[in-house]
Amino acid sequence: MEVESVLVTGANRGIGLEFVRQLVQLPQPPRFVFATYRDRNTVEALKKIRDASKETQVILIKMDIRQADQIETARKIIEDMVGDKRLNLLINNAGALRWKGFSEITEEDLLFHFSTNTVGPVMVLKAMLPLLQRAADPKSGGMNASRAAVLNISAGGGSIAQLTEQTPKEFLEIMSYRTSKAALNMAMRVVALTVKEKGVLVVNMCPGWVKTDMGTEKAHLEVTESISCMLETLIQLKESHHGAFLDRNGKTIPF
Ligand SMILES: NC(=O)c1ccc[n+]([C@@H]2O[C@H](COP(=O)([O-])OP(=O)(O)OC[C@H]3O[C@@H](n4cnc5c(N)ncnc54)[C@H](OP(=O)(O)O)[C@@H]3O)[C@@H](O)[C@H]2O)c1
Repeated sequence: MEVESVLVTGANRGIGLEFVRQLVQLPQPPRFVFATYRDRNTVEALKKIRDASKETQVILIKMDIRQADQIETARKIIEDMVGDKRLNLLINNAGALRWKGFSEITEEDLLFHFSTNTVGPVMVLKAMLPLLQRAADPKSGGMNASRAAVLNISAGGGSIAQLTEQTPKEFLEIMSYRTSKAALNMAMRVVALTVKEKGVLVVNMCPGWVKTDMGTEKAHLEVTESISCMLETLIQLKESHHGAFLDRNGKTIPF
């Protein structure tokens, strides 16, 4: 994959941080990686990557994806940096999960997940679309991640088809999270069909169950493995994947 610039949201820890680490180590790394965080006290690891990076300029940007003014400030910073070059790839990664089942569910919990995992990624994409569109070249045929793409980090937990009577009961205890990721999948499917002519590839991908603060130590996958798989898959994506929901290896997950 050869991209000029990438934006990773929620990049100060977990999956987002590892995306930044692996992007700057690509054989042909991006010129710019924009990495967002919310709290300046949490950016030590990101700063280390930034300071060690030789070919890529890693730019740290404060952005809470639930704050419209911060999204707009981030957009301006990115536009000023890339100039009439462009943004090739948005990795819509920031997300949150709290354990609550139906018996404890509150309106606040549902709205918290919906605003973080559904509304936030949609509003970030809406703001960044003009920059992505500049990178797209719909006339020269075929969409791909090197040209212009949005990778939404979704979750298998958002698959309605995969939630069955066989699903362990404890996994029902993330009701709001599941609901918000199902909504993200639908929202991005609508966006994909809406923007198809603009040449920006839109894909939802599950990283697997990954050892991060969210995934916990019980998870199956190291974060390094999950991200290297997702990057491998990303390289191979084409127009036929537009609007799809995939696992980290590129296999379709039923909605
Ligand atoms: N780990 C897994 O097993 C797994 C499985 C499926 C899907 N996913 C998805 O992968 C993505 C990353 O998860 P992770 O495992 O890396 O989780 P994590 O370790 O909990 O990290 C979450 C990241 O999202 C950021 N974030 C949360 N709310 C935000 C907001 N309102 N605005 C901006 N940033 C915000 C966090 O920033 P702060 O540090 O400021 O909180 C942090 O950088 C999420 O979308 C998650 O749903 C993870």
